Amino acid sequence: MFKTLFILSALVAIPALAQKDLPEGAGKQVTVRACTGCHGAEMFSAIRLNQADWERKVANMTTERGVEISDADFAAVLKYLSTYLAPPKTNVNKTPEAK
Ligand code: HEC
Repeated sequence: MFKTLFILSALVAIPALAQKDLPEGAGKQVTVRACTGCHGAEMFSAIRLNQADWERKVANMTTERGVEISDADFAAVLKYLSTYLAPPKTNVNKTPEAK
């Protein structure tokens, strides 16, 4: 009885913990499902990358670390990451500062 309760509460608690650092947005659930099976969301929630770099990173996760993800989920995860975990916007019309 207690064992069952313990397992049930662990099942509820783990996804809740995994989600806490990630911003709300379309694709979050898919990202949490696809990306928190082996490590927590904190592994990538603080990273800010543009779309090309996220694509490389997620592709690297699938080839190097054996992440199994469908094409549809890959697209949803990539969209979520590159939308909500993007680098701060820079003004492209501004003259770059002289270095
Ligand atoms: C099959 C297991 C698995 C899944 C699922 C997984 N990863 Fe990983 N990930 C790993 C392992 C193993 C490491 C290395 C952990 C370490 O260095 O301590 C890692 C490390 C990382 C790192 C830090 C190292 C680096 O390459 O920058 C990031 C970022 C990352 N994962 C992002 C993701 C994202 C985004 C997803 C969802 C697409 C994901 N992971 C899903 C296994 C996984």
